[in-house]
Amino acid sequence: MTSILLLSGPNLNLLGTREPAVYGTDTLDDHVARATKWAASYGFTLEHLQSNHEGVLIDAIHAARGHHDAIVMNAGAFTHTSWAIHDALAAFEGVIVEVHLSNPAAREPFRHTSVLAPVAHGSIAGFGRNSYLLGIDAVAQLLGRSPA
Ligand code: DQA
Repeated sequence: MTSILLLSGPNLNLLGTREPAVYGTDTLDDHVARATKWAASYGFTLEHLQSNHEGVLIDAIHAARGHHDAIVMNAGAFTHTSWAIHDALAAFEGVIVEVHLSNPAAREPFRHTSVLAPVAHGSIAGFGRNSYLLGIDAVAQLLGRSPA
């Protein structure tokens, strides 16, 4: 059974109340519930972890090796800074899709660079609540799967 690890980085635990004009009013639980259902429509299982700590996210990426087929990751601000997460993802042999709720390219200059994009198969940004679902669609496409 194809298994996806959905990883959420710092401050995403505050979704729902954090800058709702930018990130919307859905909570992280809302996003995860929707993503879990969407993944199931492809016959995928989905596990989720959120952490505000870089090392916890790195440990989760290491643990995903040999256990998960794909990682869908919204690394929050670590997207723009974390070469350590970049290196951890580079050691993951499965599919990697970077996702963002907002469109960082249309925001402050410090958000314009993703240090994770070079090790992801692709990036999805700016589609709000649909970004996670499109990230799962991308996994399915990369694995050659269609809805069950
Ligand atoms: C984000 C964009 C990042 O720039 C920001 O630091 C976040 C959220 C997004 O989902 O739009 O925390 O990854």
